[in-house]
Amino acid sequence: MAAKRDLLSMADVEKDLVGILELATGIKNRTKAGEAYEPLRGKSLAMIFEKSSTRTRVSFEVGMTQLGGHALFLSPNDLQIGRGETIADTARVLSRYVDGIMYRAYKSENVRELARHASVPVINGLDDKEHPCQIITDLLTIQEHKGGLKGLKLAYVGDGNNVCNSLLIGCAEAGMHMAAGVPKGYEPDPLLLAAAHRIAATTESHIEVVHDPLEAVKGADVVYTDVWVSMGMEKEREERERIFLPFQVNEKLVAAAKKDAVVMHCLPAHRGLEITDEVVDGEQSIVFDEAENRLHAQKAILVRLLGGE
Ligand code: CP
Ligand code: NVA
Repeated sequence: MAAKRDLLSMADVEKDLVGILELATGIKNRTKAGEAYEPLRGKSLAMIFEKSSTRTRVSFEVGMTQLGGHALFLSPNDLQIGRGETIADTARVLSRYVDGIMYRAYKSENVRELARHASVPVINGLDDKEHPCQIITDLLTIQEHKGGLKGLKLAYVGDGNNVCNSLLIGCAEAGMHMAAGVPKGYEPDPLLLAAAHRIAATTESHIEVVHDPLEAVKGADVVYTDVWVSMGMEKEREERERIFLPFQVNEKLVAAAKKDAVVMHCLPAHRGLEITDEVVDGEQSIVFDEAENRLHAQKAILVRLLGGE
């Protein structure tokens, strides 16, 4: 039997990124044409959410239904995990019932612990280090709008957080250039940045971290931002909102990128903080195409991991 495949980090798709994007495009076209495609008939996905979610929850649940399967929403408050059952035992038990587990967790170690003990594929639905489902989606969205990926420049402006970490690896894998413009002290995870550099060396991608937002967006085809206060960091809100203000994605900053640059945000957006209304609702914004693509990209991930295609 082939080993099960997990999606814990963006690095896990390094060899299959092109294939997953192709599959996602095919599945999206079929969905838009109203064609039924149900390769996961009879299969179930358990979804454990330690944190809130709109896009991830709804797109995974609808995605499983459209693929002929079923998804279960599980909150740790309702699971025995909330009363002390171990992650390892939860993984072993769920593996006896379901065909895959999606986990949104506070700690990446917990996602890895679950994956180690599960005999079914585990998908990281966001943790403190990474958000791979989002970045596969983002690359699909950029490819659709720009006609390709290789050689494009993405400027990420804001916090060097989970989304930024996965973008660094994803851009490197796609042969895109990336500049992360972040305040001093809010740089991306050093190990994940090093992984991105290693991959970039094989794909002619240039990855850099700078501390000036204008420098980051210079020559950019994509301007990307995310919240300044990620889930779990609420105590730092006041300090972060003060420090990040010069990193706001507003019309002036977008004007400093390429004329035909697109603007992305994984959402939820905090309008008036990391991004202004004018930009998020402006002509260059593709944030809602990006949100829609969570559905199509994750259907491809599910078919790959649970369906073995
Ligand atoms: N972008 C994203 O993961 O959104 P949710 O938190 O709503 O799932
Ligand atoms: N960086 C954000 C992403 C939300 C989808 C967070 O972790 O809260």
